[in-house]
Amino acid sequence: MKNNYQIVRTDDGSLSLIYSSKQGRSEAMHHSGGAVEESLYIYLPAATWALEKTGALRALSIGLGTGINEFIMASECVKQNLPLKQVCIESYESEKWLTDSLTHWLTKSSESNELFDLYKQNLNKVCEQQKVSAYKVKGYLQDLFQNKHLVLNKALSESTDFESPFNCILYDFFSSKLDANFWQPEFINSFLKKASAQTCSFASYASTGALKRALKANNFVITKKSGFCGKRESTFSYKLNPTQIENSGHT
Ligand SMILES: C[S@@+](CC[C@H](N)C(=O)[O-])C[C@H]1O[C@@H](n2cnc3c(N)ncnc32)[C@H](O)[C@@H]1O
Repeated sequence: MKNNYQIVRTDDGSLSLIYSSKQGRSEAMHHSGGAVEESLYIYLPAATWALEKTGALRALSIGLGTGINEFIMASECVKQNLPLKQVCIESYESEKWLTDSLTHWLTKSSESNELFDLYKQNLNKVCEQQKVSAYKVKGYLQDLFQNKHLVLNKALSESTDFESPFNCILYDFFSSKLDANFWQPEFINSFLKKASAQTCSFASYASTGALKRALKANNFVITKKSGFCGKRESTFSYKLNPTQIENSGHT
């Protein structure tokens, strides 16, 4: 494992990583109250919303980190018996070792590295909460990956273009203290224009003024959602296509 990362156990028993930058700033990938509990609370509703509205999942997950959001989405698809062809997850991660590590876990089960135990424990925890078999979910993730329905991409930037837009966006960058660029209105605005389909959910642990304004400017409805474990706010937002708006009685 890279020496500027450290594995930590959070209060629900699941594992997270703490990153320390060269400038001496540290940030955990999850709330100390529970990596899996937090991710289920913040990100699962975005996946279930997209599945309910469209019957398919075309998700954009940034960043991959320890892969909990990918485990959550796969667990929900298994729970709903969703055929692979109706699922596509594109994940972005700037740290190559994290992408390589998950790739190895999905493809070379005979080998092992420091993160394999973290994946196993976190997947078990997700599946326990979701009441599905961890064995089935790992198999589903492997099938998605082999069939290129789970794609692990490099860093996302302002120049990233997408083949087609997504119906579910999980916006899980580090905070603005570490990665200010991804929380600037101009970045979020042009990102949403490119990334979001007409029917789309959007979730983030963060809830900033700039994020809300950019979502509204891109026709998203903002809901009121508390943050995890006593944090003031988080973001769950969605937009419907015009026919769905008419049918749902929204004006
Ligand atoms: C808050 S953590 C994500 C946690 C992750 N969803 C999980 O469940 O473990 C933020 C992640 O974004 C990654 N990241 C930073 N800049 C990025 C970029 N430009 N594109 C994609 N990922 C990036 C970081 O390396 C880190 O893994």
